[in-house]
Amino acid sequence: MNDMSEHRAKFSQMTEGTAADYNIISENFKVYSRGLPDRVLDHLQLLKGDFGGFAVDRLEHSLQAATLAHQDGQDEEYVVAALLHDIGDTLGTFNHADIGAAILKPFVSEKLHWILEKHGIFQGYYFFHHIGLDRDMREQFRGHQHFEDCAHFCHAYDQAAFDQNFESAPLEFFEPMVRRVMAAPRQSIYISE
Ligand SMILES: [Fe+2]
Ligand SMILES: [Fe+2]
Repeated sequence: MNDMSEHRAKFSQMTEGTAADYNIISENFKVYSRGLPDRVLDHLQLLKGDFGGFAVDRLEHSLQAATLAHQDGQDEEYVVAALLHDIGDTLGTFNHADIGAAILKPFVSEKLHWILEKHGIFQGYYFFHHIGLDRDMREQFRGHQHFEDCAHFCHAYDQAAFDQNFESAPLEFFEPMVRRVMAAPRQSIYISE
């Protein structure tokens, strides 16, 4: 038994867990959750050097999308969503949009979450016809309250962010924004009303 044993829960099965155990676990969760922005920023940087055949790598694409949104006067939450919209490319290779949407879900509006989640389909308008798919896949959402907002995100910031000559703001510029947006969740099953 090491010195830190009093800082660990005593149970070996959750059926044996006590409130005292969960006091310890909750204290640890507080510390761990504060590190979320760092983990997200670290993971975003995995996109560096990953070109996937595009003219710019996925990190540069992300920085361009965020810079375009910022220059266009979008608010901080939106800019952070633009920065992180493709963060799922690494682990969600076949459903990347779901990952960024899930990561930001506790911290952004329902509209921004919808945009993040659906952007993969809406982005298809610009290339699905080149790969044998239906560029109008987004039409299934025509009439949805966020359809035009998602179409705008893709048109203005996503499909437009592959320019080798664009001067995007560095990641350091967006870091404080990520930290502010992710400072406190609006909703989570682990937080009581
Ligand atoms: Fe994407
Ligand atoms: Fe993208």
